[in-house]
This record gives sequence, structure tokens and C-alpha cells, in this order.
Amino acid sequence: MRFSGKACIVTGGGSGIGRATCLQMAAEGGRVVVADLRQEAAQATVDQIHAAKGEAIAVQVDVGDAKQVQAVVDAAVKAYGAINVIVNDAAMMTFTPILDTTEDDFFHVIKTNLGSVFYFSKYGAPHMPAGSAIVNISSVHAHATTQNVVPYAASKGAIEAFTRGFSLEMAARQIRVNSVAPGAVDTPMLWNNPNVKSGAEKVEGAIGKPEDLAAAICFMASDDARFVNGTTLVADGGRLDIL
Ligand SMILES: NC(=O)c1ccc[n+]([C@@H]2O[C@H](COP(=O)([O-])OP(=O)(O)OC[C@H]3O[C@@H](n4cnc5c(N)ncnc54)[C@H](O)[C@@H]3O)[C@@H](O)[C@H]2O)c1
Repeated sequence: MRFSGKACIVTGGGSGIGRATCLQMAAEGGRVVVADLRQEAAQATVDQIHAAKGEAIAVQVDVGDAKQVQAVVDAAVKAYGAINVIVNDAAMMTFTPILDTTEDDFFHVIKTNLGSVFYFSKYGAPHMPAGSAIVNISSVHAHATTQNVVPYAASKGAIEAFTRGFSLEMAARQIRVNSVAPGAVDTPMLWNNPNVKSGAEKVEGAIGKPEDLAAAICFMASDDARFVNGTTLVADGGRLDIL
């Protein structure tokens, strides 16, 4: 029971990797704040946790909006008194060449994927006691990518740099900050990707389950990873070789 009594915020908790992470943390005693743009999806995760006698609340949030992120932090502190774990999982992709990408579209991706990490770090960390952990979800696209997903790849590369730098700032407070970079995982985000549909992005032979990533994320968020800080765990089934 690695998360016994611990308050865990998981963004993107209404689907895929985020949902699997919520379920795993709750199964290990975590008190989970399931945060998602889609309230019904977040509530469905909470219902699953309650059905298994776990503890969770659902909060609707656009993670790219500072005020809404502050409201999630307030809700978590009000419900559970502190924050022990933050998993920044929610993200979005676009599929347009840079020359055709509008400024609004570019910065929408950056704000959602990277701004959210900044907001939850800035507003969440002050409520985290020593021994807490932040896990930012990157992607193999931070390391090797394809055409037409530059805003996404850039946001994920920046998340890993943010993670390294912020871990140094949090070291004195004994808050660990790490990233997990998934490869192809069987979620709506993977199958809605037009590059995957067209075969431009190859995924055969190395498709993980959301639970495979939840295992890696829960490791990084738990005391099992107490000597792991400021780094990125690539969990891709060896996929970088074929991307
Ligand atoms: N699935 C993959 O193959 C894969 C590969 C590499 C990285 N990732 C990363 O894993 C993470 C989870 O992806 P997934 O595959 O589980 O996706 P998913 O589409 O199954 O779930 C993403 C969730 O995030 C929520 N969300 C989207 N925008 C939001 C916003 N602005 N505010 C709040 N919530 C928002 C969605 O409503 C959804 O519930 C993402 O960071 C993604 O970049 C996924």
C-alpha cells in the first residue's frame, strides 16, 4: 500500500494512462483527485474507485488555465489537507505542419501540455510536505519524432527540461520531480493519431497497456523511487528503435 493516506492529484484522470494511474494509486490506499477537462469522464473514474472501496473525488479542469489549476489545488487541500503526489498527465496533440500552424494553435498546445506543468508546480508544490513527488508525463516524441507534431514534441522536450530544473529547486524541500516518457500505449490518444492511422508513425509490436504506464508512474511517485530525482524514465517497450 504505497499510497496509504496520500493525497494524489492526477490530471487527465478520465481516460487512458491517467485513469489507470488513478485506479492503481487508489488500490494502494491513495486519496485521489481525478482532474479532467471532461467532468463525466473524471466521475466515471471516481465511480470505479468507489466501487472498489477506494477514496477519490472528481474535479473538472482545463489544465492550461492557471485559475482553474489553482481551484484544483484548493479542492485537493480542502478535501485531504495536503498534496503528496501530482501526476501531470493531461495533454493534447495537433497534426499540422509548422508553416500552417497558427500562433493560437501553437500556444494552445504549449499552454495545455507545458503550461499545466508550470501551473501545478507553482501552485501545488507549496502544499506538498517533504517526501512528496511530482511525475510529469512526457513522450518518446521528446527524443525521436515524426512530421507535423512539432508543438507536441516541443512541449514534451520542454517538460523533461522543466523536470530537471525544477527538481533542483525542490531538492531542499525533499520533493522529488521526475518524468515518465511513454511509447505507444493503447488509449484513445494513440488510435486518434492520424499519423498512426496512416502508418507514418509505426507502432507495431510495441503497444503498451495503460496499466503498464501506471506501474511506471506509481513507481516514480512512490517511496520505492526515493533515490530517483530529476530524471526521465522511458517506458516504451523498446519503441524508440522503430519510431
Ligand atoms: N497513448 C500514447 O500512445 C502516449 C504516448 C506517449 C505519451 N503519451 C502521454 O500520456 C498522457 C496520457 O495520454 P493518454 O494516451 O492516456 O490519452 P487519453 O486521450 O486517453 O487521455 C487524456 C485525458 O486528458 C484529458 N485532457 C485533455 N486536455 C485536457 C485539458 N486541457 N485539461 C484537462 N484534461 C485534459 C482528456 O479529457 C482525457 O481524459 C499524455 O500526456 C500523452 O501525451 C501517450
